[in-house]
Amino acid sequence: MRKKNLILAFESSCDETSVAVIENGEKILSNVIATQINSHKRFGGVVPEVASRHHIEQVTICIDEALEEANVKPSDLTAVAVTYGPGLVGALLVGVAAAKAFAYANNLPLVPVNHMAGHIYAARFVKPIVFPAMALLVSGGHTELVYMPYENEFQIIGETRDDAAGEAYDKIGRVLGMTYPAGKDIDELAHKGKDSFHFPRAMMHEDNFDFSFSGLKSAFINTVHHADQINETLDRADLAASFQQSVVDVIVEKTLWACEQFSIKQLILAGGVAANHGLRDTLSAKLNEKYPDLDFVKAPLELCGDNAAMIGAAGYVAMKHHVFADASLNAEPSLEFDWVPDAVK
Ligand code: KG4
Ligand code: ZN
Repeated sequence: MRKKNLILAFESSCDETSVAVIENGEKILSNVIATQINSHKRFGGVVPEVASRHHIEQVTICIDEALEEANVKPSDLTAVAVTYGPGLVGALLVGVAAAKAFAYANNLPLVPVNHMAGHIYAARFVKPIVFPAMALLVSGGHTELVYMPYENEFQIIGETRDDAAGEAYDKIGRVLGMTYPAGKDIDELAHKGKDSFHFPRAMMHEDNFDFSFSGLKSAFINTVHHADQINETLDRADLAASFQQSVVDVIVEKTLWACEQFSIKQLILAGGVAANHGLRDTLSAKLNEKYPDLDFVKAPLELCGDNAAMIGAAGYVAMKHHVFADASLNAEPSLEFDWVPDAVK
């Protein structure tokens, strides 16, 4: 029988400390997630110093729990995988230091993982990824379309020029008096309202795959402030629905265009904002209508947010491609995908 490949994976790039055990890159034996959201809520966003301290407190507890839940001993493991960027430097450093120490102490190879590749590989828990593929990555820090001609090759074909979609959700949520992160609450409220404000859809018909959400955010905030000044009460559900419809329309339109321009076999939807029901449903329906033969894979709802299981799945692929790091591995807060200049359409 083939020996099982067991990866202990670490994620600490933002406000979740997570450790997972993944078998053969496709099966979750454990995925322990310690979220710090309650500590950041009162500040309206993630406070980097506070995040680092929480990671330090949680990481060893998460390691013990992940191994216990998976019923795995350190000597059963094949490798250690860790997110080394992009993210908050102090937060990343805790995961990187813990992973390095664990790998050194147990004589295991260390696999460095890009957090965004991790988000894409959350889809691996649904089914195998088929290449060439395209990933629509929507999170709190990123909004991008990533073309993957082959396994372990990532080319950003378009990205946001200002705010990420999740960031825009969180900022307008604050204006509506919601707590951080507001994406899920706005999504729920949006389903009770209608698109009556018709906010702008920036760059929707431009000849590129880039996005822009700051104009939409400003239009939203101006509308709310103007109403406040004249003591007018606006319908919150309609505001949420109108904002969400603008975001979804632009993202869906650009993604459909990417599907038309690149010959791909699979489209993957991943990242924190991929949990958005409006986006999931609209994209499914439009793809079904325009590209019924294209395989559409949505990251499972519970794996859209940050977690170590997705890092283990991406780490398994990186390991297959002999991507290893030594003890000099450092956190890279602005890590980007390696550019693949000759990627063929
Ligand atoms: O991927 P993620 O967990 O962290 C980053 O790597 O950024 O994404 C977090 C973001 C937050 O901005 C949050 O408001 C947003 O994902 N989010 C949502 C939903 N659930 C989470 N945005 C829209 N609709 C949702 N249902
Ligand atoms: Zn993330």
